[in-house]
Amino acid sequence: MPKAKYVLALDQGTTGTHVSILDTKLQVVGRSYKEFTQYFPKPSWVEHDLDEIWASSEWCIARALKDAGLHGRDIAAIGITNQRETTGLWMRDSGKPLSHAIVWQDRRTAEQCRRLKEKGVEPRVREVTGLVVDPYFSGTKLTWMFDHLKGARKKAEKGDVCFGTIDTWLVYKLTGGKAHVTDVSNASRTLLMDLKTLQWSDEMRALLSVPDACLPQIRGSAEVYGTTRGMRSLPDGIPVAGMAGDQQAALFGQACFEPGESKCTYGTGAFLLMNTGSEPVRSSAGLLTTVAWRLGGTGTTTYALEGSSFIAGAAVQWMRDGLKVIKRAPDIEALAASVQGSGDVVFVPALAGLGAPHWRPEARGLFAGIDRSTTVAHMARAVLEGIALQIHDLAEAMRRDSGRDIPVFKADGGAAANNLLMQFQADVLGVPLVRPRNLETTSLGAAFLGGLGAGIWDSPDAIRRAWKADKTFKPKMKADARERHLAKWKRAVERA
Ligand code: G3P
Repeated sequence: MPKAKYVLALDQGTTGTHVSILDTKLQVVGRSYKEFTQYFPKPSWVEHDLDEIWASSEWCIARALKDAGLHGRDIAAIGITNQRETTGLWMRDSGKPLSHAIVWQDRRTAEQCRRLKEKGVEPRVREVTGLVVDPYFSGTKLTWMFDHLKGARKKAEKGDVCFGTIDTWLVYKLTGGKAHVTDVSNASRTLLMDLKTLQWSDEMRALLSVPDACLPQIRGSAEVYGTTRGMRSLPDGIPVAGMAGDQQAALFGQACFEPGESKCTYGTGAFLLMNTGSEPVRSSAGLLTTVAWRLGGTGTTTYALEGSSFIAGAAVQWMRDGLKVIKRAPDIEALAASVQGSGDVVFVPALAGLGAPHWRPEARGLFAGIDRSTTVAHMARAVLEGIALQIHDLAEAMRRDSGRDIPVFKADGGAAANNLLMQFQADVLGVPLVRPRNLETTSLGAAFLGGLGAGIWDSPDAIRRAWKADKTFKPKMKADARERHLAKWKRAVERA
C-alpha cells in the first residue's frame, strides 16, 4: 500500500468534468465540477475544444483537492472515466489539437454511414466490432477528419498525429505527452476494434481509411499507463492506473459483477448496460455488444450488452437553455409534478437522432398530442416520460437478446435524483427500481479501477461493500394505463 491514501477519479462527461477524491473505504472526501463550452457549428454538429476539456480537468483537480483539504502528494492513484466515442486528433510532439473534437452526439457522418450500409458492410461490421454503422461511433468521425482537415492524413501516416477518444487525450496530458493509450472498453466504441482479439482490426481500418500509425495502444482497464508529469495541481510520479468509458465504469461502480446484472445511467444520454460475462453476446434486437472491462493487463475480459439512447438529461437542459421554461435542471420535477399527467402529450427525445434499438440518425425530436389546454407543465412531464419510455424499449430489447429478465433495475446518474422520473420508469418497466446512495457510480467505478491498477485493492469486494441502496421505487401504475402510455409512445416514435 503506497503512503498516500486517496484515489482521484477524473470523470470527463459530455457537458462537464467531475473530480472526486475517495478514501480507501471509497468514501468521497472532496469533489468539484465544471461545465464547459458546447459548440454547435451547424445543425446536428456538436464539437468540444480539447484544450478546454483539459483546462477544466486541471481546474477540477485543484478544486477537489482544496475541497478535501488535501495536497497533491496525498493522491496514491488516478482513475479516469469519460464520455465515449468523442473523437480528437492532435500533434504527437506538441499536443496541439488539429481541430475541435467531434462529439459522440454529432450526426455529420450520417450520409457516409448510409453509403456504407448501401455497400452491404453492416453485417460484417457487427460481427467484428459488435456495433452498428452509425455516426455515434468514432470510426466515421475519424474518416471525416482525415478527409476534411488539410494535411492530417499525411501527417498521421508519418506517425506525427495521435488519434484519441477523451480517455486517451487525458492520459496523454496527465503524463506530459508520454502515453498514447486507450483501454479496451473505450476502444470497443470506435468501430475499429475486433471484439474477439481486442486489437485494432486491419479490416475495419481499411474500410474507414484510418492510418495505423495514429492509433493508441489498447490496454486493460486497471493497470498503470504512466505517471503524472508537468502538471500544475499534482506532483510528478502519481500513477494513472485505471480507465473505462463512463457507462462501463458505472456498471462497475454499481457492483454489477455477475452476468445478468444491469444498470441504467441517466446523464446527457441514458445508457442501459447488462453484464454478459466472459463471452460477447450478439444482439438481434438492435443493441450493441461491447467490452465492459478487462482487469489486469491480460486478465479476464467482461462483456456487456448495451442500449444507448442519446438524449436524457440533455432534453432537460434543452428545456432550460433552449426553451427557457426552467431556471435550473432540477426545477423540471416541480413543474412536471404540478399537473396530474402529461395531458396526452408525448415527447420523443430524438434531438440527436434515435439510437438503440431503432438506429435512425435522421429522426428528430417530436411533441405529439398538443391541444389548446396544453401547458409547459404538461410538456415538462412529457419530457420526463419520454426519457423513461425510450429506456422501456431498451429493456425490452435487452430481455429478448439476453434471454434474461431484469429483476431489479439499478439507476444512477444526475437525473436519477428526479423522483418523478424514477417512479414513472419503474411504472412503465413494471419492475422495482433501486437508486444507490451514491449517484456518482461512474466516479466510484473509475476510482476503484484506478485503485485496483495501483494495487490499493485486490478484488472488487470493497465496491460491493461500499454499494448502498438509497430508495426503491415499486411499480404502482395499473396495467391498462401502462398499455395506453406504451401505445401512444409507439405511435409517436414511428412519426419522429
Ligand atoms: O456514449 C456516450 C456516453 O459515454 C456519454 O455519457 O454521461 O456524458 O451522457 P454522458
